[in-house]
Amino acid sequence: MARWAADRVLHRLRTRSLSVLGVATGSSPLPVYRALAASGEPALASLRVFALDEYVGLPHHHPQSYHCVVDREVTRPLGLDPARVHVPDGAADDLDAAAAEYEHLIAASGGIDLQVLGIGANGHVGFNEPFSSLRSRTRVETLTARTRRDNARFFGGDLQQVPTSCLTQGLGTILDADEVVLIATGAAKAHAVAQMVEGPLSSACPASVLQLHPRATVLLDDRAAAQLTRRDDHEQAGAATGPPRNP
Ligand code: GLP
Repeated sequence: MARWAADRVLHRLRTRSLSVLGVATGSSPLPVYRALAASGEPALASLRVFALDEYVGLPHHHPQSYHCVVDREVTRPLGLDPARVHVPDGAADDLDAAAAEYEHLIAASGGIDLQVLGIGANGHVGFNEPFSSLRSRTRVETLTARTRRDNARFFGGDLQQVPTSCLTQGLGTILDADEVVLIATGAAKAHAVAQMVEGPLSSACPASVLQLHPRATVLLDDRAAAQLTRRDDHEQAGAATGPPRNP
């Protein structure tokens, strides 16, 4: 899965149809960044990168701030110029202004060519929690109890340490990307994946907004795909050797 996503990025990079990459945090996309780093592709250095989201209230140097995570997992391994890597400023005094400025910066960069996404167990993408407006833009969002519990593992299991709000690109912002590639693994994502792919388009499952996207690819392992009722079985899928079919 990671190799497919990385190859997609590299193909678009080499054919000059990718200059702005959107990156997600969370554990699911990490193998993609490792595969990109391992490619040694020199053109990666020309990328401009936008992160999806950031916690509110963590200083940029906090190891779990997405400023730090993106620096550690993306900027350094891929050899990117830090000046070309952007993360919403969750430490800003004026968060609304920081959100508006982030939208402006994305637009001024020509828009995101390919957005890598994960999905929360409650169907969030970025940090767009259930009942986010389907046309939302970058803004302050309150984290749900579920998301805070899920992310407590990054804070030594201490829920008190997990911020209660964030800045996140909106669902409308994500929809504006030219292409999106979402990666999900594990049984904990199975319900959200089924809602996203087969459920109704509904803000109750924010990821279902991707049903509106003309170029969205969803990469799943068997456990994350387990609740898809219309999936081909393994035999029918020809042992799943080919590239992902058009979603
Ligand atoms: C995090 C991030 C999302 C990410 C999701 C899933 O909270 N804000 O961008 O996709 O939750 O994370 P993981 O891949 O670790 O399950």
